Amino acid sequence: MIIGGSSSQKLAANIAHEMDDVLCPLESRKFPDGERYIRIKGDVEEGVIVVQSTGYPQDENLMELFLILKTIRSMGITNIRTVIPYFGYGRQEKRFNPGEAVSADVVCDLIQYAGASEVYSINLHENSICDLFNIPTHNLSAMPTIAQYVADNVDDPVIVAPDKGALGFAQEISNLLNCESDYLEKIRISPEKVETKPKNLDVDGRDVVIIDDIISTGGTIVNACGILKEHGARRIVVSCVHPVLVEDALLKIFAAGAHDVVGTDTLKSEVSNVSVASLVADALKKGF
Ligand code: R5P
Repeated sequence: MIIGGSSSQKLAANIAHEMDDVLCPLESRKFPDGERYIRIKGDVEEGVIVVQSTGYPQDENLMELFLILKTIRSMGITNIRTVIPYFGYGRQEKRFNPGEAVSADVVCDLIQYAGASEVYSINLHENSICDLFNIPTHNLSAMPTIAQYVADNVDDPVIVAPDKGALGFAQEISNLLNCESDYLEKIRISPEKVETKPKNLDVDGRDVVIIDDIISTGGTIVNACGILKEHGARRIVVSCVHPVLVEDALLKIFAAGAHDVVGTDTLKSEVSNVSVASLVADALKKGF
């Protein structure tokens, strides 16, 4: 039985379809003062799968997840596989400055406390988040899924990572498609501001696919598009796993010269056109 939280209802339904499994009816609403109410309306049996991304509004989605997990646990269910397609608070997975909260650690503790017995996520911002859990945790890669989209939509592309941290993604896709890859050097000045260094890139007259894990404000991608256009790139297709897309990020990216933007359905957005349902269902079926 699969339970889809408010942030992942369609993805939960698609995973249920892929697994030939049933969706459990869930009532989730708010009291007039804003507090969350949860009621699980199906007859749950041992071996439940909960699907809930914890992106914006992060705190509300997390609270809903905690309430769902604890309620299932209180029904005597111990095998609760928890799929968190986008893991919110994942960028604060260590203490960068004294006195800071290690938010990802707190979130992992609470997910476990609430009753998750195993966690599945997709392209966690840092793989080390797996170590913050004391239960089996699996960090799946959406790169083969995105590579298939690229193969179906772009001829002979160069895959470009907008920073060194994303180079592994670009290489994963270029290895699968047997094409070239490269990366740009980015310096983050603040959460809202990044600088990208000019670099010699062999993209003149070529179609380019940019790949990143997250697009948040769009600043990283806007800079990358500018440099790629200066180097004569023909068509620029922007791809990511998690389309966070804060405010007018999408508009800024198109204005910077992107011909297409595509993300996966780990988060709901205007560009969530590539589904990770099969990726998740296959992992759940295999049991890892
Ligand atoms: C950074 O480490 C990530 O991989 C992304 O590059 C970053 O989150 C993108 O943020 P923004 O869209 O705000 O530049």
